Amino acid sequence: MNLQSLEHKVAIVTGAGRGIGRAIALACAEAGAAVGCAARSLSEIADTVGTIGERGGKAIAVQTDVTDPAAVQHLIDTVAGSFGGLDILVINAGISPGRHPVENSDAEHWQEVLNVNLFGAYHCARAAIPYLKQRGAGKIITVGSGMGHRGKPGSSAYSCSKAGLWMLTRVLAQELWDYNISVNELVPGPVDTRMNTAPDGLSSFGDSEWIKGPEEVTQLALFLAAQPDRGPSAQSFSLMRRDG
Ligand SMILES: NC(=O)c1ccc[n+]([C@@H]2O[C@H](COP(=O)([O-])OP(=O)(O)OC[C@H]3O[C@@H](n4cnc5c(N)ncnc54)[C@H](OP(=O)(O)O)[C@@H]3O)[C@@H](O)[C@H]2O)c1
Repeated sequence: MNLQSLEHKVAIVTGAGRGIGRAIALACAEAGAAVGCAARSLSEIADTVGTIGERGGKAIAVQTDVTDPAAVQHLIDTVAGSFGGLDILVINAGISPGRHPVENSDAEHWQEVLNVNLFGAYHCARAAIPYLKQRGAGKIITVGSGMGHRGKPGSSAYSCSKAGLWMLTRVLAQELWDYNISVNELVPGPVDTRMNTAPDGLSSFGDSEWIKGPEEVTQLALFLAAQPDRGPSAQSFSLMRRDG
């Protein structure tokens, strides 16, 4: 396999304060990348950065609400300015509302989910692309969901946001192929994080699913980040065990 080392690479991980994003940020740093860690909770991303530092890696925390385009621009400028460019963007920040049939759903809440999971991703990609182009190559990894690929009752906001993210992934992949920038979706399947703390959270997946810890998602993230400049793009890579 002709995987690239992440030594001398610069990565940004959104939602790096906990859960899957924290695990991916730690793994990228362990693999040699300098990492910009973003989320709204400064104490959580500072903790991620502290852990990376203790392990000998390089990272900075930039408090960011991904729904705010100016804050996202500040994030990307700050990380690229601090580490001399940008190679890898992991679009991971996300929220999941409870389950509500459309008929009983709250329109403001619906919009908020789209704002974070889809518009947030758009803001991040839009601000990062000029820096990735400057490098002559790059990787964008979107953290999607199986819910973006199929309809499940009560999941309209989350599923529509992730379906939109999957389409954004494919459109970006077409727009950026000529610049050696590959764009792929990582579908983690059920992961034991704060997102799944609702009473029926992980248990609703049943025994047939692979319920994993955040660190079990990192190998696939690193695999995608380390692909050659001309590698898979517009693809979805899933850690789900079943299709339903
Ligand atoms: N856990 C699963 O089973 C699962 C399955 C499939 C897909 N996913 C996806 O994986 C991603 C990570 O989820 P997780 O399970 O690790 O959830 P999590 O533990 O709740 O972490 C979510 C992260 O996103 C950040 N975030 C939320 N809203 C933000 C905003 N407006 N601006 C910036 N950062 C924001 C959070 O920090 P702040 O709140 O401090 O901002 C936190 O760091 C999400 O996109 C989720 O949809 C998760």
